[in-house]
Amino acid sequence: MPALRLSASTQDLIHAARLLADGGLVAFPTETVYGLGADARQDRAVARIFEAKGRPAFNPLIVHCAELDQVKALVHWSEAAQALADAFWPGPLTLVLPLRADAGVSRLVTAGLDSLAVRMPAAPVAHSLLSAFGGPVAAPSANRSGQISPTRAAHVMADLGDRIEAVVDGGPCAVGLESTILGLTGTPPTLLRPGGITEDALGAVLHTHIARRRETDGITAPGQTRSHYAPRAKVRLNAVEFEPGEARLGFGPVACDLNLSPSEDLTEAAANLFEYLHRLDATGAGTIAITPVPHIGLGVAINDRLSRAAAER
Ligand code: TXA
Ligand code: MG
Repeated sequence: MPALRLSASTQDLIHAARLLADGGLVAFPTETVYGLGADARQDRAVARIFEAKGRPAFNPLIVHCAELDQVKALVHWSEAAQALADAFWPGPLTLVLPLRADAGVSRLVTAGLDSLAVRMPAAPVAHSLLSAFGGPVAAPSANRSGQISPTRAAHVMADLGDRIEAVVDGGPCAVGLESTILGLTGTPPTLLRPGGITEDALGAVLHTHIARRRETDGITAPGQTRSHYAPRAKVRLNAVEFEPGEARLGFGPVACDLNLSPSEDLTEAAANLFEYLHRLDATGAGTIAITPVPHIGLGVAINDRLSRAAAER
């Protein structure tokens, strides 16, 4: 059975919440990317996420909540967490905090770790669905493992439509890049994945040095495997000139097939990134060539995703 396509109407969101309560898989839009949601407390439902994505079981999932009180029932809260939540929640920031013994989330969610990744999404559709459901929802990006992240309901349908119960169509995602993940289980705080909130913005709130995860630290986030977000086509970065036959992805004032942002606006580029990779991949071109994107602000996260899309597989 193909997935049910639901709208963002109250009636449809109540339906989606009921599917989650029944152990179903429901994809829904957040401001970053579409998530593949399941009730974080039901082992069987969470196991089905891994099955549908074809995801290595050692990769832990982010839990999404509508309210701060729900988050505090899952993790040991801290002053730093409160400052960050005040500044950035709801929004594209995920915090990794010590798991409470009485959290009640499936051990599959944390992949056995004693920490939990939590996030409160800003997209109104996500908030309404989480409120209607009333509990913690585990949700990785709604794509098969290693594929490009989905920023449209159509991407989810194409990739997972035959493996899940429903997709809530809330239109395109505003940010278009996954959340920033910050580890708060030790000192100093550690940037585990660059994303929608920049390192500078985090630093300004925390007034402390933020460590970067080192490649030698092992995989604590799947976006950290070197090859990830991979289109079918090969990806060539920092293209100065295009070769004949290449699908041409540009940034700034260049002649190309699709332009992430003609005016060099990094926010616009982030929002377009995955959609344009999807579109150029669908042309069947052997290679997608991309002109340079500056490594500043959101450009750090954009280049992170691009370099993983280009990595040897
Ligand atoms: O924007 C987002 O974060 C999207 C939307 C749907 O919320 N979700 C997302 O999920 O990107 P996913 O599963 O594709 O990436 C979650 C990341 C993974 O890299 C995972 O390893 C990391 O979060 N993670 C989850 N729990 C963790 C933990 N306890 N410690 C360290 N990393 C953790
Ligand atoms: Mg992902």
